[in-house]
Amino acid sequence: MSALVLGIESSCDETAASVVCDGREILSSVVHSQASMHAQYGGVVPEIAGRSHLAQITPVIEAALQQAGAGFRDLTCIAVTTRPGLIGSLLVGVNTAKALAWSLSIPVVGVHHIEAHVYAATMEHAEYPWPCLALVVSGGHSSIYRAHSPLRIELLGGTLDDAAGEAFDKVAHILGLGYPGGPLVSKLAEGGNPRALRLPSYRARDEAPAFSFSGLKTAVLYHVRGQNMARALPRPEEIPDRADIAASFEQALVDALVNETLRTALREGLSRVLVAGGVACNRRLRHEMQSRAAAHGITALFPSPAYCTDNAAMIAGLGYHHWRAGQHAGLDLDAAPR
Ligand code: KG4
Ligand code: ZN
Repeated sequence: MSALVLGIESSCDETAASVVCDGREILSSVVHSQASMHAQYGGVVPEIAGRSHLAQITPVIEAALQQAGAGFRDLTCIAVTTRPGLIGSLLVGVNTAKALAWSLSIPVVGVHHIEAHVYAATMEHAEYPWPCLALVVSGGHSSIYRAHSPLRIELLGGTLDDAAGEAFDKVAHILGLGYPGGPLVSKLAEGGNPRALRLPSYRARDEAPAFSFSGLKTAVLYHVRGQNMARALPRPEEIPDRADIAASFEQALVDALVNETLRTALREGLSRVLVAGGVACNRRLRHEMQSRAAAHGITALFPSPAYCTDNAAMIAGLGYHHWRAGQHAGLDLDAAPR
């Protein structure tokens, strides 16, 4: 008998639901993005996020079931993101999942959002990738893990300051672009020279992998505005080399991600690298990671872009493994922001 898992994700600014069969076959994946609601504030406003999740969660779940051609009674289990994320947002998903599981008399499992991002990179590939190295680069995280199995992931190191997506979003703001900034910076960078600016690069001092992006962001800020903190940011049309800045910034950040990931994979003796999270959509990162990994005999696996950013297919997919391992939660299942 195959197992149908309904996944629910509401940790940040996407309300998502998905039905996945046996942890791999994605029957539906519905995502309602709140990006336009937060754009005018330049970042996610927790109160707006929580209220929007509450309004969207039921229609999003119904749409996911309908697209999968399934009914509530066909479900084997419900998987929900319990951590990390915004508490008011997480609670919407967790309480919905518990209420549904209780009313259907089926198990509910709690899923770690970052572990699910790692798992997403494996769902569309036939090969069994474990053990492998995983790089998760999103708006809130830039970390490298040793992934022993879907349910056993060990943190090796990560950013000392800004996350990669956060650095993209801040540079987008400096360049007068909208939010979320990653795709906009990347688009602008296509027309620029990635070697035009000399930007600082951080080198980890220890064996453990580490990133630092705040120096890079500050260098971009000083280049655009000068070092006088009192001065306002120039208007976009007053920055003549915007495309070169975007390209040089993107190249410097991608170089850091690729260097650190491959250095760690070689040190750990791992021949496969999974890359996941919103920044894994970035085309320069995808291209450079794949070509430089291949030169070392390493395979780099990326999810397709729809499964890089927040989605519930990854929650249902990993949730299946929790269910199969008997890691069922009780009705005291709770959300944890960290
Ligand atoms: O994984 P995600 O959807 O949400 C979090 O869990 O944070 O990642 C969102 C982040 C944002 O910072 C966004 O700017 C970045 O991913 N992002 C990109 C691209 N697409 C999304 N960054 C660089 N290049 C892209 N193409
Ligand atoms: Zn995420």
